[in-house]
Amino acid sequence: MGIDRLPPQLPPFPIADVQIIYATPELIPSFYQTLVVVAGEKIYLDLVETPAWERVLSLQQGLIKQKTPVYYAVAGGQVIGWCSIYPETHLCHAHRSRLVTGLLPGFRGFGLGSRLLQAALSQAKMDGVEKVELYVYTDNLPAIHLYLKMGFEQEGLVRRYRKYQGEYKDALLMGKLLG
Ligand SMILES: CC(C)(COP(=O)(O)OP(=O)(O)OC[C@H]1O[C@@H](n2cnc3c(N)ncnc32)[C@H](O)[C@@H]1OP(=O)(O)O)[C@@H](O)C(=O)NCCC(=O)NCCS
Repeated sequence: MGIDRLPPQLPPFPIADVQIIYATPELIPSFYQTLVVVAGEKIYLDLVETPAWERVLSLQQGLIKQKTPVYYAVAGGQVIGWCSIYPETHLCHAHRSRLVTGLLPGFRGFGLGSRLLQAALSQAKMDGVEKVELYVYTDNLPAIHLYLKMGFEQEGLVRRYRKYQGEYKDALLMGKLLG
């Protein structure tokens, strides 16, 4: 069963005032708080435990230093969502990058995911990234819809991709060629 389409709700902040900006070191603590909330939901990301602050800080600092596509959605000075596209680690895989995205629950369904992906994908293309890939759980219908809308195609189905607290989730491997 898929994650249901949510009934219309008022956004917690005027959506038109949410800014999509390139990540900055000053906003990493706020990004961390958002990551902890989305990971804590335990149903969307592979990350299901609270990540160590030091590790998140150093990873984000590294991505920003390398000018990797990392965009934050910012509302009232707080990071409420992000989209990162970072290269695979092995040299012979480095032409492929992985996309990860998320928004705080109250900010979903208002087009911010689309804006985040557009910003990150547009930079990735300019940077010469050849291909962007991601895994998405098969029950995450809003995310699958978004990825298809942004031009991703399904490349595979990974059965029992994850096992958490005894429950399995299948995942789609999706990809988009940029160059
Ligand atoms: C995935 C996520 C970033 C998308 O951001 P968003 O701002 O909600 O996305 P958008 O509003 O730009 O687009 C969502 C699309 O899905 C559609 N949608 C929403 N619920 C849906 C459902 N149950 N079935 C199908 N489509 C659905 C929306 O109508 C919209 O499409 P449209 O622009 O054609 O109308 C956000 O939902 C989120 O943070 N989810 C939890 C974390 C997560 O899943 N991360 C990705 C892991 S792979």
